[in-house]
Amino acid sequence: MVTTVGLQNNFIDALLELVQLDYDAAAAYEAAINRIDREDYKDVLKNFKKDHENHIKVLSEYLETKGEIPPEGPGLKSLLTQGKVVLADLVGATTVLRALRSNEEDTNTAYERLNNYEAIPEEIGRALENGLEDERRHAAWLDKTLEEE
Ligand SMILES: [Fe+2]
Ligand SMILES: [Fe+2]
Repeated sequence: MVTTVGLQNNFIDALLELVQLDYDAAAAYEAAINRIDREDYKDVLKNFKKDHENHIKVLSEYLETKGEIPPEGPGLKSLLTQGKVVLADLVGATTVLRALRSNEEDTNTAYERLNNYEAIPEEIGRALENGLEDERRHAAWLDKTLEEE
């Protein structure tokens, strides 16, 4: 699945979609944390989930200052996202990590696109840069760990 987040003409619309995607990503991490049995992986995944929650907080606060009502939880799409991880229940850590890596493809693409909008307001620019750095770190860790699995 290729995300459409960041293809909106309007920057605020794209940000609203991004918050939704971050909720879905956090929900997928929660599902993964509950299913994976390796404590060392769990600790990392908990931190990644927290990163997504921080993104949600910062982006939502900004949207509220613009009079927008940000999403409040995972959307319908997260059922699919979670579904992948639910299926992974029976097949072990590698499949769970692969499902998360596939989600991170979307978050990385979305943050790259958001960072490429014209005239990004100064108040949110840094948060978007930090967000992209986080998403790249998540994907890199998943890649490295999957190679070692
Ligand atoms: Fe994020
Ligand atoms: Fe991420």
